Amino acid sequence: MTDAKTPVAVLVSGRGSNMAALIAAAKNPAYPAKIVRVISNRPDAGGLETAQAAGIETAVVDHKAFADKAAFEAALAQAIDDSGAELICLAGFMRVLSSAFVAHYPNRILNIHPSLLPAFKGLDTHARALAAGVKIHGCSVHLVSAELDAGPILMQAAVPVLAEDTADTLAARVLAEEHRIYPAALAALASGRAQMENGMVTLSGGQLPTSLISPPLE
Ligand code: GAR
Repeated sequence: MTDAKTPVAVLVSGRGSNMAALIAAAKNPAYPAKIVRVISNRPDAGGLETAQAAGIETAVVDHKAFADKAAFEAALAQAIDDSGAELICLAGFMRVLSSAFVAHYPNRILNIHPSLLPAFKGLDTHARALAAGVKIHGCSVHLVSAELDAGPILMQAAVPVLAEDTADTLAARVLAEEHRIYPAALAALASGRAQMENGMVTLSGGQLPTSLISPPLE
């Protein structure tokens, strides 16, 4: 029997909770992707242990061990390609990839970002959302393009911002949604449900709520 599941490499730099959500989803026999390798640029990333405990092959490509970014990315590409991965999921991977690296994997790299893009690209998204006084915040899964946090969006989830929120409480509310949409977005891409047109992605199916109002109306 041929394996119809799309092989995926997951890149992490830290605790790997999104990676764990992808691994958990991929355990379902009906899931259209399988995680073939977890790669970290940090030897001490907690995600490596979690992956190993789940029986997933791991590799470390430590950016500090290379003379420059090109050499690091060549080794990273080798670790990805050796695994047979056809798609790459960045899951808290905290290195900015060069346009040459991105061009090598066109429409094949996914990222999860902790904001409703195009708002709050970059770092410290939750503190910046609080400082801006937004009432709705969230997370986005997008295809990686040469420009940071700017590639076509596949899926987003929104959460209310509460008056008493700190960056940590807001991050936790958003993270719970990250764990829901990342596996769903990867499944959509791996199963060919993502329609790409004019640099935008459309996913079909499901039933949308008509609105999220925050704070709620009286
Ligand atoms: C997640 O919140 C992810 O969205 C964010 O890092 C966290 C990693 O957590 N990614 C970025 O900020 C990318 N610029 P995790 O290691 O538990 O998945």
